[in-house]
Amino acid sequence: MDIKAMADQFKNDKWEIKGKDLLVHDDCLGNGAFACVFRGTLKGKIPLFKVYASLQLVLEHTTGETSEVAVKKLPAHANHEGRVDFFHEMSFMKRLGYHPHVISMLGCVSNPIDPLIVVEYCKHGDLLRFLRKNKGSILKDETPKESKENDYPDYEVPMKIKDLVSIAWQVCDGLCYLSSHKFIHRDVAARNILLTKGMCAKISDFGLCRYADSSLYTAKGGRLPIKWMAPESLKFYEYTEKTEVWSYGIMLHEMFSLGEAPYPSVQPMEMIQYLEEGNRMRQPVKCPNEMYILMKGAWEFKGEDRPTFDELRAKISMLLNLGD
Ligand code: ADE
Repeated sequence: MDIKAMADQFKNDKWEIKGKDLLVHDDCLGNGAFACVFRGTLKGKIPLFKVYASLQLVLEHTTGETSEVAVKKLPAHANHEGRVDFFHEMSFMKRLGYHPHVISMLGCVSNPIDPLIVVEYCKHGDLLRFLRKNKGSILKDETPKESKENDYPDYEVPMKIKDLVSIAWQVCDGLCYLSSHKFIHRDVAARNILLTKGMCAKISDFGLCRYADSSLYTAKGGRLPIKWMAPESLKFYEYTEKTEVWSYGIMLHEMFSLGEAPYPSVQPMEMIQYLEEGNRMRQPVKCPNEMYILMKGAWEFKGEDRPTFDELRAKISMLLNLGD
């Protein structure tokens, strides 16, 4: 389908934002190869969920006449494939529904030349950058100091290893929701988890997301996050809940190693053989034993031997209720 026809499909639905209601600022929140995210201001109140240490969710609304939002744009050099993917992402986000640990689309602009996806603003940015930036204070198990660079100022949320377990639970909860709706994200990684002002974790970036009405989705080629992929995705391009569980395990390793890149000494081309030989990443120094056991379970060679997200969530819930 051509871009104009895709855009026409979306026009005039309840998601369409009028240009006069949205102001896109110059500050770039993130720059990927396939989209740029800018800070924006949207007229009107938007729902806001806060999560507290006890994992209770509280619904609030932004105050005032306008809300801070994030605006995803196509880069100027985007090719036809990039544009089609962008419109796919838009339509996925409309179907997603609301879940506190999945980023919500607030609206969009489906102009074929300059389409925009407007989502909740997540003040602390992506989990990978957050971990790398706060590695020192997390290692000491102390409250992070105000950021010197001033890009994410004034957070006062203590980030300790136990808080990482809470974030792992929240992401798992979001993935339970996605898999129960047969959505396969295909790019579960710390770079795609966003943190709100209240430290609520949200799964984002649905550029690779697909709907699988059978439990298996097969896709060949395209841009691939090789080191996050399960053996059957690398070899046979298969995607299931169990391949998402593998990627979630890699994300857990990113978290508890405080932002280390996976398998730094292995070339992407060598990954299949490396995994087939039974090699897996070691336990990071600060990683609780119980979390490493979960990672290893997620990296069982055969998908059927890996746990489901429901099982993982139950185990992490138990961990969170243990101890202080
Ligand atoms: N970077 C990418 N998406 C973002 C968002 N929704 N909020 C803040 N920073 C982001």
